[in-house]
Amino acid sequence: RAAGDPAITEIQDWNRYPGKGVDATPYGSPSSFEAHVIRKNVPWLTSDPISSVNFTPLHEIDGIITPSGLCFERHHGGIAEIDPNAHRLMVHGMVDKPLVFTMADLKRFPRENRVYFLECAANSGMEWRGAQLNGCQYTHGMVHCVMYTGVSLKTILNEAGVKPEGKWLLAEGADASAMTRSIPLEKALDDCMVAFGMNGEALRPEQGYPVRLVVPGWEGNMWIKWLRRLEIGDQPWQQREETSKYTDLLANGKARRFTFLMDVKSVITNPSPQAPIRHGKGPLVLTGVAWSGNGRIRRVDVSVDGGRNWHTARIDGPGLPKALHRFYYEFDWDGSELFLQSRAIDEAGFVQPTKDQLRSVRGTNSIYHNNGIQTWHVTEEGRIENVEIS
Ligand code: MTE
Ligand code: CO
Repeated sequence: RAAGDPAITEIQDWNRYPGKGVDATPYGSPSSFEAHVIRKNVPWLTSDPISSVNFTPLHEIDGIITPSGLCFERHHGGIAEIDPNAHRLMVHGMVDKPLVFTMADLKRFPRENRVYFLECAANSGMEWRGAQLNGCQYTHGMVHCVMYTGVSLKTILNEAGVKPEGKWLLAEGADASAMTRSIPLEKALDDCMVAFGMNGEALRPEQGYPVRLVVPGWEGNMWIKWLRRLEIGDQPWQQREETSKYTDLLANGKARRFTFLMDVKSVITNPSPQAPIRHGKGPLVLTGVAWSGNGRIRRVDVSVDGGRNWHTARIDGPGLPKALHRFYYEFDWDGSELFLQSRAIDEAGFVQPTKDQLRSVRGTNSIYHNNGIQTWHVTEEGRIENVEIS
């Protein structure tokens, strides 16, 4: 067109008038043009938003760190609004010296900074009996990955002195649900943290302000938020959330208990149902995330033909243990229909299974620990749907 592109030839308002001054937003927020990038829930999933979940918009973010305001929230009794000055963390049970810490006390121990993913055991839980929800936000959005700042749990427990008969740890939250889980002492003394920082700032209230437990690589339910109590004992406590909930009902009617580890998993976030292909044929950037409770991701494979042929994806960014890994696969789309899949392999050698492989072992009674390979069907118009192929 002779007139040229008005985005170039016409002077825009932002080019003509000065913008807002430096203190317009003392605590910054995203561009108003990004207002659609938000956590979302699925209203029919739970009867009430107080004991519910919303989902990380995985299709709208890149890299490996989840912005704090986009981390999915899962809580069973609403968000506790805790005054940090009135908060205490107590350590008791089979210890030499029961202790009570204020937040100020916790901040006088040596600190660590660690990047970890947190995945709810129920992530992808609606997909056991077939493709359900149209978008990676809903199928895979119960995961986030942030940098935690805090004190190693080992430091705290050593301060109290665990008695030799101590084998298990009970962690309890200060929220209305008083979420309570048993954790083997071996794990507690390995890489768990008592965290008060998240992505450089204080934990957000939704994520457990002022302090939460970090249980790297293990199911999100154990990461007790609003942490108020740690008890040492010689056996698990058989709490509701480790008997009636967060157990895996198998095909034979028996339930598997204590499936702590989150297995190797991945998903293509773009293109995906909420992020269709709008640019037509030609160069296409496919991307996604992979993670494993076993440590690092060794390799991610991508298929565009439903698993017949596999290509090694390019992992870019830090490859940190028990953290999200970002992968890319760039190709020229010829405009034909695609069946997109990703398959992650972790450093322990575990390979992400197909959904049918998973069902052959686990049946379909379970809600938890679904790490099966996700398929997205792409039409010639670039529209995308959650499907299963066998
Ligand atoms: N801790 C307390 N105190 N109360 C809760 O309801 N929910 C658990 C866990 N810790 C919960 C809790 C569940 S099921 C998950 S998946 C994670 O917190 C979610 O953490 P997030 O809200 O930071 O994503
Ligand atoms: Co959960």
